[in-house]
Amino acid sequence: MGMANDIESVLYTEEQLKARVAKMGADITRDYQGKEKILLVSVLRGSYIFMADLSRAIDLPCLVDFMVVSSYGSDTQSSGQVEIKKDISMNLEGYHVIIVEDILDSGNTLYYLMKILKLRKAASIRICTLMDKPDRRVRPIKADYVGFEIPDAFVVGYGLDYDQRYRNLPYVGILKPEVYGGK
Ligand code: IMP
Ligand code: MG
Repeated sequence: MGMANDIESVLYTEEQLKARVAKMGADITRDYQGKEKILLVSVLRGSYIFMADLSRAIDLPCLVDFMVVSSYGSDTQSSGQVEIKKDISMNLEGYHVIIVEDILDSGNTLYYLMKILKLRKAASIRICTLMDKPDRRVRPIKADYVGFEIPDAFVVGYGLDYDQRYRNLPYVGILKPEVYGGK
């Protein structure tokens, strides 16, 4: 049985994702015109596909780097505790940093990350997230670039996982609640 069996409905198709990411890349290209030191920071692992597509939709010289943080175990609820497992390798001083996230949910992850990154003398820091669930926010975090505002459902695919699976689905789908023991 394929992965599609566990999906209740498709929220965004490959074509919709492609079109939206192209637009986000064009927006960033316009907004950062003339800036010399641009750094895209992907928060792994959920944003790996978004990062790959978004970075290729930005027509400016920029660097890429990666962080690994953990805020979820194999559950679907944020614990409020965030741990940096792999930090950015480079010095941010003078860089225009764009944090590339898969989804902004409670805001715990980015709240904590922003607190740390703001101490590092970047020229600017902005947040670019593919999806945003504003109804679930418990921290005062707002993204500068949002691909899609989505309702409070657990989604997988295009990099996003449930229990480390489904990341390689080429579209974004809503998982059947019975897959994670809900109803
Ligand atoms: P936050 O700290 O609650 O904002 O959670 C952010 C992280 O939780 C995201 O980067 C995702 O890795 C994960 N997450 C939140 N909602 C979902 C979802 O619907 N599907 C998969 N992962 C999610
Ligand atoms: Mg995740």
